[in-house]
Amino acid sequence: MVSVSLRPTAPSSDVVIRAIRTSDALDEDTVPFDALGFRQEAGQTLVTSSPAGTKAPVTVFVAVDDEASDEDLRRAVAAGLRAAPPVRHAVVEFGALEPHQLTAVAEGAVLTAYRFDRYRGAEAREKAAQKPQLSEVSIVASEARKSEAKSAVERGVAVAEAVCQARDWVNTPPGDLRPADFAAQIEAAAAKGVTVAVWDEKRLAKEKCGGILSVGRGSEAPPRLVTLTYSPSKATKHLALVGKGITFDSGGLSLKPGASMQTMKCDMGGAAAIVAAVNAIATLGLPIRVTAYACLAENMPSGTATRPGDVITMRNGKTVEVLNTDAEGRMVLGDGLSLATEAEPDHIVDVATLTGAALTALGQRTAAILGSDEYFEERVFAASREAGEDMWRLPITDEVVSALKSSQIADLRQISSKPYGGTLFAAAFLREFTGDVSWAHLDIAGPAFNDGGAYDYTPNGGTGAGVRTLVQIASTLA
Ligand code: BES
Ligand code: MN
Ligand code: ZN
Repeated sequence: MVSVSLRPTAPSSDVVIRAIRTSDALDEDTVPFDALGFRQEAGQTLVTSSPAGTKAPVTVFVAVDDEASDEDLRRAVAAGLRAAPPVRHAVVEFGALEPHQLTAVAEGAVLTAYRFDRYRGAEAREKAAQKPQLSEVSIVASEARKSEAKSAVERGVAVAEAVCQARDWVNTPPGDLRPADFAAQIEAAAAKGVTVAVWDEKRLAKEKCGGILSVGRGSEAPPRLVTLTYSPSKATKHLALVGKGITFDSGGLSLKPGASMQTMKCDMGGAAAIVAAVNAIATLGLPIRVTAYACLAENMPSGTATRPGDVITMRNGKTVEVLNTDAEGRMVLGDGLSLATEAEPDHIVDVATLTGAALTALGQRTAAILGSDEYFEERVFAASREAGEDMWRLPITDEVVSALKSSQIADLRQISSKPYGGTLFAAAFLREFTGDVSWAHLDIAGPAFNDGGAYDYTPNGGTGAGVRTLVQIASTLA
């Protein structure tokens, strides 16, 4: 992990990443910007040998808009670091920055420096060891001695490190992160002040968690429910989080085609996000009580697996006619949401890689927000904006509710009979388990995993989607 510090003046380093505002007059005598083809448009970079007086051999200039948003700053830091040659120590000089801007710059640095190479073989590791790896970032700002500035940077580092923790879990191969493994890792990673309880399959049966058990039945690795609690004495509000933690989604007996299964190690991205967010909230000491439920199961086909046609009784007593075992996320979340609802929190947010239909609606980089409380959903949307995560609200319509209630033999149909509005239907299903509690649902099926190349501060693979928005929600509620 890269270490980030805040300095009043630049230390010596390997490279300086320097912002050029779009209105800045360029001094062509020190650097021939024009001749080198540098255009003063946001996102443009120029890598050059440093002008005299710089305590680094290489400078990367990054054009930054005068009115840059926090998200523009994260992306500008990413552009600068990605343009730089491989170095160990980078200095970031972005001029005078407000505390929220310092947070964004620190986040941009940590998120861009992320690597996941623990599964490379010996030869590749040796090769990588020859090259310098970014391990230190110094942010230079005249405000460095102020305590608000220091804590702004610390906040950014804590949030971004939580995002990286979620990325690591998503990237871990599914055979190495089955439910019991994931539960043990969650226990080991718990931040100070966070307590963790794990329910095994016997306890889940005693607690009538029929939804989680029905999904886990097909696997030799039984399911787990992990509850995290953070309860600071000064808290007045209580936020509950619920995460979908399917450690691998084969589809079960309704088996996925091979190509659709290739990235299904990401199907625990919701659980990874809520756990990482609780750790960040505790590390930051936010004065809000948080209870999080990670619903962990492996969805596999076998002689013991749940069949299409089976009827399952959920934790809250409602019965579900299973029609497609690949719609397993709603089954585990139903029980997690029931448990959250029983705790009578002020709000519940669940996070899940729930539906392929969310990708059809919003693409691969935008999460869907649905829920039972439009005021709260709007707050969640505002938090996503502040955090720099792309999200958009969708409705739960009467059309999908009537489809939900159309089972001939059980209380609820598990899937719609029509191939339309799948994200809406799934949210209508989840609402059945939230009682009267104000609830919002984040469908992160698109943004949880980047199956393409790295862009901005987002690497290939697990992205840690949802973590920043959850921390932002907690800090606005607190
Ligand atoms: N985990 C998948 C959803 C998913 C798809 C996540 C693509 C990430 C990328 C989920 O369990 C699933 O299989 N959903 C089905 C539901 C259908 C059977 C009603 C889907 O979306 O096809
Ligand atoms: Mn599935
Ligand atoms: Zn799934």
